[in-house]
Amino acid sequence: MDWGLKNRISQIIKPYDNRALMLAVDHGYFLGPTEKLENPKKVIAPLLKYCDSLMVTRGIQRTSVPATTDTPMVLRVSGGSSIIGEDLSQEDITVSIQDAIRLNASALAMSIFVGSKYEHQTIVNLGKLVSKAERYGIPVLAVTAVGKELGKDERYLSLACRIAAEQGAHIVKTYYCDNFEKVVQSCPVPIIVAGGKKIPERDALQLTYDSIKGGAVGVDMGRNIWQSEHPVAMIRAVRSIVHGNSNVDQAYDFYKKLVSEGPKKKNKSEKPNQTKSEKPNPPKK
Ligand code: R5P
Repeated sequence: MDWGLKNRISQIIKPYDNRALMLAVDHGYFLGPTEKLENPKKVIAPLLKYCDSLMVTRGIQRTSVPATTDTPMVLRVSGGSSIIGEDLSQEDITVSIQDAIRLNASALAMSIFVGSKYEHQTIVNLGKLVSKAERYGIPVLAVTAVGKELGKDERYLSLACRIAAEQGAHIVKTYYCDNFEKVVQSCPVPIIVAGGKKIPERDALQLTYDSIKGGAVGVDMGRNIWQSEHPVAMIRAVRSIVHGNSNVDQAYDFYKKLVSEGPKKKNKSEKPNQTKSEKPNPPKK
């Protein structure tokens, strides 16, 4: 693996504990102004310092993310369909490598729709994107899309993740399922779990915990963070599991504590105020 590729992957999957916390805000690329993400700038600002990387489209990156941030960007480069269109799986690559480089992307993300009408197109696009991106040392994160007609069980997700890895994806984003360990075991590249629809906070923390325990390197969570009544408390609680090895009870207690304390007064020069449970483990000797 070339130095640039390794370096970019290490910006997303932190080498000190091999874990990743990605904040997903790319939903508008097919959903439009998703509930509670109507104003991405407002949503992103308080959360940016608590995630390891941000999954974003170029439009939102340019308009709603400060260029001064040191948070790595995972740039969604696929699209072309909408929630009211004919077929969500009809996606193509919509962003050039040159533009991704201008945006200083740490990784490119695209969806594959295994088992759908446009399966062939999306899988071929993944292979082509990997070839192009590797020329510049940029990793590709493949998203295994699920839909009404697509499964979300171990068999389907194993198939989709393995196909993504076979095409050269460097990281795969998928969903949690029963027997998730089997999905991880048959996928030779790191897996990150997507949060999915909003569920109660404790359940989302359980999902995070189970995903990590099942072998995922981390989570890419969107709605369960910014659709929460307390997004900052929620991302900090998720972080305490991903990087702090908290269990679900500890993380939920932490969430409730942060909620009861209320928002902190702003102090621009302040670094993220991490507690012991959010701090990474010391590097292994
Ligand atoms: C879907 O549009 C994107 O791939 C999201 O990044 C992904 O689904 C994660 O977001 P959420 O946790 O809201 O499912």
